[in-house]
Amino acid sequence: PPTASFVIVANRLPVDRVQGPDGEEIWRRSPGGLVAALEAVMHDVDGAWVGWPGQADLELAPFTADGIRLLPVTLSSRELQDYYEGFSNDTIWPLYHDVISPPQYHREWWESYVQVNQRFAERAARAASQDGTVWVHDYQLQLVPQLLRELRPDLTIGYFHHIPFPAHGLYSQLPWRDQVLRGLLGADVVGFQRGQDASNFLTAVRRRLHLDTKGTTVSVPGSVPRTVVARAFPISIDTTPYVELAARPDVRARAAEIREGLGHPKKILLGVDRLDYTKGIGHRIKAFGELLDQGTLSVEDVTLVQVASPSRERVDAYAQLRDEIELAVARINGDHDTVEHTAIRYLHQGYPREEMVALYLAADAMLVTALRDGMNLVAKEYVATRGDHRGVLVLSEFTGAADELKQAIQVNPHDIEGLKDAIMRAVAMPASEQSRRMRALRKRVLENDVNAWSHEFLVALDAVRRTR
Ligand code: G6P
Repeated sequence: PPTASFVIVANRLPVDRVQGPDGEEIWRRSPGGLVAALEAVMHDVDGAWVGWPGQADLELAPFTADGIRLLPVTLSSRELQDYYEGFSNDTIWPLYHDVISPPQYHREWWESYVQVNQRFAERAARAASQDGTVWVHDYQLQLVPQLLRELRPDLTIGYFHHIPFPAHGLYSQLPWRDQVLRGLLGADVVGFQRGQDASNFLTAVRRRLHLDTKGTTVSVPGSVPRTVVARAFPISIDTTPYVELAARPDVRARAAEIREGLGHPKKILLGVDRLDYTKGIGHRIKAFGELLDQGTLSVEDVTLVQVASPSRERVDAYAQLRDEIELAVARINGDHDTVEHTAIRYLHQGYPREEMVALYLAADAMLVTALRDGMNLVAKEYVATRGDHRGVLVLSEFTGAADELKQAIQVNPHDIEGLKDAIMRAVAMPASEQSRRMRALRKRVLENDVNAWSHEFLVALDAVRRTR
């Protein structure tokens, strides 16, 4: 089989299995920004993507979808439990998000994580051509850089970490903390969302592995000593489809229809998240509920639309969160709804991009209240759609996006009174101030899109390659 000079390795393949027009099963490109950003790169050179096809025990030969060569990795249902739901999403995810939910440490999960990372590394090693480039993505695959380097020392290896990297005091809880650091240091460039994440990683490397760091580089001794670059490359979105959809008459008509369907409240607040305990959905709902209880707001004034898309439902912490959120929503609605108006329109569903853009256009304010978030792309999507320079972004300071989106109303979501004040400021903000802030936010997001992000990362990776 042909090899590829540029290989992406991620837990998921960038496609979803859907029903085609004649009822047959087909693979359709998933809407994620990562695929869009890398599409050009994948076509310019001979690219390939290694990943899991999204179902247990599915054994698939390599195939091409939408012009992208896909190299599927099979995961058994046991591996999905131990590597994916267990170690990735019930150990690393909560630990790296500042233990908002207690991480579970299980030795069998770790063993499965090592085995699955080995399989991804072997698949990438077979796929990459001599002196090729491999770009590994995210916390499910932290051991792949080192495992791949052992198999293929000729390759240039990049790794990008999409979620936060925790402070050393928390990181040191991990029973396998040294192995994970060595895994990541197999890369030539280790990219993070925020400067703080990179500096947390560098501190861990110094304290745990006693390696020398200088600025953003780590000296890794060995038979061939290496220099690893660890720094921030804040990710963004593919802005084009958001800008285009927001200008389309049918999407704008849909936004008007949404407002009408909600009974024309004076203001619409919007939350859009995967149903995840990192997102601070409960804090947002509590603040809004208190404003209604106090009579500061009424359901005729304001409706909160909360899209909470289903996620990782087989992990206990997620099932529990769903119960908590749905109880809170039902109580608030029961207390405040009228026959004509609702307090919270709660939607436990995912929607196509057209519908999301219509919701962004219908919303007077977007509430992003994550307790910890690597970046938060929803904040950037909202901004990209507001070509009318209207709308207010309320943004948690605990998101990566807060480093860039300074003209948002920034909040500490743990401070419920502060959150209530921010909601009231958003609801009352004059059009002139909305416009001034939104112009600045849009300039930032449109100039720093996902193409700029991937370009910057690949330039840094190439610079390391050339110094070797
Ligand atoms: C976050 C992670 C991604 C992950 C996505 C969806 O954005 O950084 O790596 O793919 O959530 O989660 P899932 O578990 O469904 O892949």
